[in-house]
Amino acid sequence: MKSIAITFLIIIGLISCKHTPVVEPKVPVICDSVNVSYSRDITAILKNSCYDCHSGLAPVGGLHLEYYNVDSSLASDNHYLLNIVNGNPDYIYMPPPPYAKLTTCELAKIKVWTDAGCPNN
Ligand code: HEC
Repeated sequence: MKSIAITFLIIIGLISCKHTPVVEPKVPVICDSVNVSYSRDITAILKNSCYDCHSGLAPVGGLHLEYYNVDSSLASDNHYLLNIVNGNPDYIYMPPPPYAKLTTCELAKIKVWTDAGCPNN
């Protein structure tokens, strides 16, 4: 009888053990488009929006965006990278839906990095 009661308590415990979401305090997003670094900012943007398709063993179109030389040549080639992510109608648009468009801050960072000559910083 005791073991039934204990089993019952354990089951109740498991059922009621719900995960309470932690409410994160809202921190204002500050866009630092002055100090842009390839290793910190640009790779983070590409990781977020592009690596799902353009990395790994079978990257789409054979385009593997995890390498500095690939990313920098894409960006420095007449602002090609910027043109495909900022919605220039003359270019194929990336990332395709349902991926979110790059934010104004992300676009600004890509522009600053490209204008600076795509440093490997
Ligand atoms: C959901 C998958 C997906 C994601 C995410 C994605 N791409 Fe693509 N990408 C594709 C596909 C599919 C093609 C081939 C499109 C075509 O040729 O019609 C392509 C083609 C390209 C090309 C070649 C375009 C050309 O003119 O042939 C470039 C460059 C490119 N993507 C860059 C990016 C960048 C940069 C990002 C992130 C901002 C990105 N892609 C995100 C699927 C993706």
